[in-house]
Formats: sequence, C-alpha cells, structure tokens
Amino acid sequence: MKTGIIGALPEEIQFLLQELRHSGKKVTETRRGSMEFTEGEIRNNAVVVCRCGVGKVHAAMCAQILISEFGVTRIINTGAAGALDSRLSLFDIVVSTEAVQHDFNVTPFCYEPACIPGFNSPFFVADPDLREVAKKGFERVLANFPGGAPTPSIYEGRIATGDVFVAENSLRSEIVERFFPACVEMEGAAIAQVCATFGIPFVILRSISDLADNSADSTYDEYSEKVSVMSAMLIVEMLALLDT
Ligand code: ADE
Repeated sequence: MKTGIIGALPEEIQFLLQELRHSGKKVTETRRGSMEFTEGEIRNNAVVVCRCGVGKVHAAMCAQILISEFGVTRIINTGAAGALDSRLSLFDIVVSTEAVQHDFNVTPFCYEPACIPGFNSPFFVADPDLREVAKKGFERVLANFPGGAPTPSIYEGRIATGDVFVAENSLRSEIVERFFPACVEMEGAAIAQVCATFGIPFVILRSISDLADNSADSTYDEYSEKVSVMSAMLIVEMLALLDT
C-alpha cells in the first residue's frame, strides 16, 4: 500500500515532512507545476506527501497525479477548517464521514444542491476503515499529549468544501442550513471526487482554526499554523496502525 497525503499549505504538511526526513529512509522530491511531492516512509509505511496549494482545482490536480503517477492506493487530506457545528472548539479534529462541494450548483437542471452530474449523490462517502483507524490513532495522540496543553476532541461529521474562505455569518448560515456540515474548508470534497472517480479510498482530517464567522480571518491568522499540527500528528499515528 502507498498513502498519498495532501495539505494545501506548507504549514499543513510541515510536521509530516519532518517525520519523513527523520525516518532514516530514502526521500525523493518531485515537482509538478507549482506542486511539491515528497516520497518516503513514515512509521515504515510508504507515503507521498504533497503541498497542493489552495482550492478545489489544486486539490483535484494533486489527487489525480498521486493516483496516476505515484500509484497511491489511499489518500488522506489534512489541514485546517472553519467550525460549523457548535460543539467544535479550536484545535478539535473532524474526521470526514462524507464530503460535499457546497459551491457546486446545477439546480436549474433539476439536480439537488451540490449534486455533480455523473454522480448519484452530492455526498462523497469516506472510507470506513480509514475512519476507524483515525479514531484509534487519536487515542495514541492523546496518550502522548503534553500535560498542561488543552486537550482536543475528535468528531466525525460531514465536511463542506468550496472555493471560498467562509468569513461571513450569512454565508455560514446558508451552508449550515443547506448541508448540515461539521466544518468547512477548500479542498477535501474535490479530492473526494477524484477518489470516487478512480475507486481510491479517502478520508479528510481537519483541525479547527476558526468558526467560519465574521471574525474567521483574524482567528485563522492566529491559529491555523498551530492547529494544523493536530491532524498531521494524527496521520503519523494512523500510519503506525495502517497496513503497509
Ligand atoms: N479553512 C480554515 N478555515 C476556513 C474557513 N473559514 N473557510 C474555508 N476554509 C477554511
């Protein structure tokens, strides 16, 4: 098995690259356009870690290259997200049950909101085994968590993706009322669409960096880098548990 790991920004994959470089195993770096792919091993599991850039097109290109060129057999997407479920706090982790592209709309042609022609549902379903391993991996993260730091929680839920940073209460409410997601981000469901097309299992892991409300931009600026380490730490523990 070979695991593709996608983060949009350098800070979202920095922790994983450190693990990869300290593994003592061979590391290969490849560039495709603006994207960087780093191949190696984490916890004795073959990985290709990619920084894809922000948004759905970058994410889809990256997922496609990981599948067709690097031959990955599962994909994990990591990064920050804005919370839409009131139970979530900063640093908490959301494990995707499914992903939806909230900004996709061909309803004038009698499709339901976010349903993409060619698919029979707006919701791309995450792999149940990867979700299970994420929950087990989180127990290992907590076991090694530094005392004194606020302990994050893990939630499972729907993830909404769109080519927009949600920092406005009205848009936030619209997305919540339409799709009832746990959180919102800008890449996950595009990766999910590519994975669904090619029969590749995926899961999205997102750490909460803001509340996707009117103050989301300043909260994101303050927390995104710190919270991104959470989901990256979880992936390292997952790789210790996953089949090689
Ligand atoms: N990623 C982190 N926070 C986000 C937000 N509020 N909207 C979209 N993507 C995000």
